Amino acid sequence: MSVLFACQGTPIADSPTPTATPATQETFGTAQLTPAAYPDKELSASPAQLPKLPYADNALEKAIDAETMKLHHDRHHATYVENLNEALQKHPQLKNRSVEAMLRDLNSIPEDIRESVRNNGGGHLNHTIFWQIMSPTGGGQPTGEIAQQINQTFGSFDAFKKQFNEAGGDRFGSGWVWLVRNAQNQLQIVNTANQDSPIMEGLYPIMGNDVWEHAYYLRYQNRRAEYLNNWWNVVNWSQINRRVQAVSQQKS
Ligand SMILES: [Fe+2]
Repeated sequence: MSVLFACQGTPIADSPTPTATPATQETFGTAQLTPAAYPDKELSASPAQLPKLPYADNALEKAIDAETMKLHHDRHHATYVENLNEALQKHPQLKNRSVEAMLRDLNSIPEDIRESVRNNGGGHLNHTIFWQIMSPTGGGQPTGEIAQQINQTFGSFDAFKKQFNEAGGDRFGSGWVWLVRNAQNQLQIVNTANQDSPIMEGLYPIMGNDVWEHAYYLRYQNRRAEYLNNWWNVVNWSQINRRVQAVSQQKS
């Protein structure tokens, strides 16, 4: 994991004490950890299932072509799910744990499947988030709480976009670029290698972009910077705000 831009200053906001704890939240010691896959539920491993795309393959043409979307979802993401389920067959007791729980505590996973859970569980989680935070009606300026937090942390949306795109471009080989909330309740831009998830480092993924070549090569070939730039045309700020709200209710 590379931390590219730690934000300065004070935490974004005080975390309010939750009035109720959703039953789907994981209890980890005394802390309530927000599910990462969705704002309100974790990713099941009994068995892991490929979620449907929330739009048509050709719905994100402003940034990503239909063939890439189809291959990316139906082949790449599907393969992570299949491989995760195959690995868990060797240790079926693990199926009672969520994908997030396994990734947060990889050392507790039997060594013979640990790398597979890391790669395929991470791939399943990362892509599940990715599909949700894009929309055919997305793009434009951020709205709501995330707009305020971006301005407070990075100065402006343009400055944030520039740093995020640079962090995505700097990831050598395959990986992801993320906006995360760290343990100090601050926003931070990081990139991760391969299918590593920020939750492996105790960071909560607010939004992320896939910079594996499979995410952009058909349309953009080696022009990752152009892909990173166009991707903002489909960013789903409403969904990102739901993720911000979910994590702001987390009991630290
Ligand atoms: Fe991908």
